[in-house]
Amino acid sequence: MSMPQNRVFSGVQPSGSLHLGNYLGAIKRFVELQNSHECIYCVVDLHAITVWQDPQELAESTRHVAAAYIACGIDPDKHVVFNQSRVGEHAELAWIFNCVARMGWLNRMTQFKDKAGKNRENASVGLFAYPTLMAADILLYRATHVPVGDDQKQHLELCRDIAQKFNTDFAEPIAAAGHGDGFFPLTEPLIAGPATRVMSLRDGARKMSKSEPSEMSRIDLTDDAETIAKKIRKAKTDPDALPSETAGLEGRPEADNLVGIFAALADSTADAVLATYGGGTFQAFKQDLAELAVEKVGPIGAEMSRLNADPAEMDAVLRKGAERARVIAAPIYDEVRKIVGFV
Ligand code: TYM
Repeated sequence: MSMPQNRVFSGVQPSGSLHLGNYLGAIKRFVELQNSHECIYCVVDLHAITVWQDPQELAESTRHVAAAYIACGIDPDKHVVFNQSRVGEHAELAWIFNCVARMGWLNRMTQFKDKAGKNRENASVGLFAYPTLMAADILLYRATHVPVGDDQKQHLELCRDIAQKFNTDFAEPIAAAGHGDGFFPLTEPLIAGPATRVMSLRDGARKMSKSEPSEMSRIDLTDDAETIAKKIRKAKTDPDALPSETAGLEGRPEADNLVGIFAALADSTADAVLATYGGGTFQAFKQDLAELAVEKVGPIGAEMSRLNADPAEMDAVLRKGAERARVIAAPIYDEVRKIVGFV
């Protein structure tokens, strides 16, 4: 079994609605990688239940994320689209990784601290162990590249640490099985472009997030044209004109955020956006940004609504995707079993 060279894996949680941050930081990049890589895109329902989910809503959200993938341009016939809980090896490998990863490594994870808040004692064990499951998602396919937003960087570093420790801990059986330089790859995060961290439209210091109570803080992929335009018109800014160069965005988080969003939606760069709008008012800039966002996001929402109307179709896509995922995962997990010594 040879090491894959250009296999992409990534996932999105089915918990609440998807927003512009999910699109620009992750899903838009998933779409772009389809021409150059073999891609596996997962709806991570096992991750979602690390915090309580209403079962019916979880099932609906799982189909909605699959619909969003397809509406954004992922082709489920050419690449693999499935939900995590259908491939049992994710949880099995995660258990092995729970025994490889160290408590100290997980204790450093900032996302756990943020999500658990003050009441850590009351957080689920799953929420604490979340990053080992994420490493299992990626390494179950020996994926080489993982496109994500900036907030997942620390989890991907942990994934590399786990791969490395597994390769070292089991160096002898790995070599005996003919995998000379390690069984798991040291997967590369793909965190690039002008919108790796899209911020709230109401507060440039906070990340755009589905858990933020104010709907005005984010653009949901299902927002209609009028709502998208209104949210951009009302987005917080500062009193100065736009700068002509990116250095001038320093200390101006709201301006920085809107320019990044513009650049990402236009497949451009912040420099190019400021070359056009530098020196001008936010009002004119926002007008064009609203038009651009409606043009790019509007059709995604419309296609999602169409796909959401046929849940049986989404179930069929996910079922077929899981069969294909299992074909890739099963032989890799069989090797892991032998390496670890499970008879
Ligand atoms: P999740 O569901 O929170 O988010 C899905 C993707 O969207 C990105 N993202 C953002 N990017 C830019 N700006 C934002 N404001 C923003 N908010 C979210 C996230 O970085 C992510 O790429 N742990 C992951 C899911 C996961 C996963 C994996 C990812 C599970 N297993 C394996 C990659 C590989 C998560 O909770 O993403």
